[in-house]
Amino acid sequence: MTVAHTLVAGQGLTTTKAPYIENAVANGEMYIEQPYELYSADNHDAWQRLYARMQDRWTRYANPRFLDGLATLCFEPTHVPRLEDVNKFMAPRTGFRAKAVSGFVPAFNFFDCLSRREFPTTITIRDGSSLDYLPEPDIFHDIAGHVPMHTDPAFAETLVRFGACAHLAAEMVSRVSDPTEQHRRLSSIQNALQRFFWFTVEFGLMRGSAVDELKVYGSGLLSSYGEIVHSVESPSVQRYPLQLEWVINQHFEIDHYQPLLFVVNDFEHLYELVGQLEAWMKSGKLDNVTPGWRQMSEADVQSFLTASLNR
Ligand SMILES: [Fe+2]
Repeated sequence: MTVAHTLVAGQGLTTTKAPYIENAVANGEMYIEQPYELYSADNHDAWQRLYARMQDRWTRYANPRFLDGLATLCFEPTHVPRLEDVNKFMAPRTGFRAKAVSGFVPAFNFFDCLSRREFPTTITIRDGSSLDYLPEPDIFHDIAGHVPMHTDPAFAETLVRFGACAHLAAEMVSRVSDPTEQHRRLSSIQNALQRFFWFTVEFGLMRGSAVDELKVYGSGLLSSYGEIVHSVESPSVQRYPLQLEWVINQHFEIDHYQPLLFVVNDFEHLYELVGQLEAWMKSGKLDNVTPGWRQMSEADVQSFLTASLNR
């Protein structure tokens, strides 16, 4: 039997050390509340330092729509944001809402949330003693890195359209009767979708207004003090105009700065690319992409299979 941890105000919602999250996971709760009183002084201090040191870098490297989004959201620089406040400012712009989750969300559910204008949001924050390296998302990545982009109508529509691709994938594989083939095809489509998401929403670069200028719109870069500079300035990074056929076949690693990044022209271009991805899925072109270097998570695959059974 699992013993529930006692929750005490101010005990902390620190990544990997939060009793509230451990309880939620033990109870199988994926969608949760944000018990704001549990944040500790150290948690707020970590937010303050993370937020303060990004200011100059955002001004210099972030695309203008991210900066507009930041202004819209009115974050308090000294405190971890309340999701309800974030949603109050965001909803009138695009209808998107940040939705608190306890951690891992299976791929289908994650994409499905996007199609419904909900963004699964981590509520824990990294330990203040190691601001730079974090193997998993935290509230700084999700709220300061992702959410300002969700205030932009063109970007929001792109996310909704991308999220809807998960439904199309579930529909496509529901027509396949052989379970082995169904699993194989699903893994391939999912690889393609995850690679697209990674190289755009998480690590995308965009042309700026001046010749040869690059701006950052990917949240993995926007929430990283070191990589936001590296992504634009380092001569060792390969930066190429986004080619969909390349992106869907390109594997990635998550534990170091990205050596390869793709550049889109503008947000309209990004929206069109999702349309192309959709068309390629319908025509079967995503059924045979280069396999991933690691096994697809069974929970991810099952989430799509369950969705396809429910059609
Ligand atoms: Fe992310």
